[in-house]
Amino acid sequence: METTLILIKPGGVQRNLIGEITTRIERRNLKVVGLKLVNAPRETVEAHYAEHKERPFFGSVCDYLTSGPVVALAVRGENAIKAIRAMMGATNPLDATPGTVRGDFALSIDDNLTHSSSDPEAAANELALWFPEGLVA
Ligand code: PPS
Repeated sequence: METTLILIKPGGVQRNLIGEITTRIERRNLKVVGLKLVNAPRETVEAHYAEHKERPFFGSVCDYLTSGPVVALAVRGENAIKAIRAMMGATNPLDATPGTVRGDFALSIDDNLTHSSSDPEAAANELALWFPEGLVA
């Protein structure tokens, strides 16, 4: 069993895609074990993207993630990390296959709707960052 972090970014919340994305996750038989709507503090977002600090988009991606509420989801299941990444689609929506969240709903990397943990180490760090109080299950 793996547990992974998914963020529905401000664009996804604004476009009323919380239900659509969560439904896809649940239909896949992955379990939601943490769920909240938050106005993320800047320091949380900067810590989340810390490994990209030197990249040119760091400031703009942090601006975007703090521009409105985000949904943080902790999701558990067999091979959940890889399964969720595949369901979300390629980071750049123009490369995302139709049938994935980004392939169906996004057009721009600036607004690619979701984040999901890339590997077990990232998942552990990101879950601790976004759910410091721990998970309910
Ligand atoms: S990945 O999938 O993590 O390997 O992708 P990577 O290319 O390393 O990108 C890491 C995160 O940075 C975001 N990103 C960008 N945001 C805005 N503009 C540009 N040009 C850009 N390039 C990369 C990308 O969306 C990844 O964040 P998340 O939150 O995982 O989508």
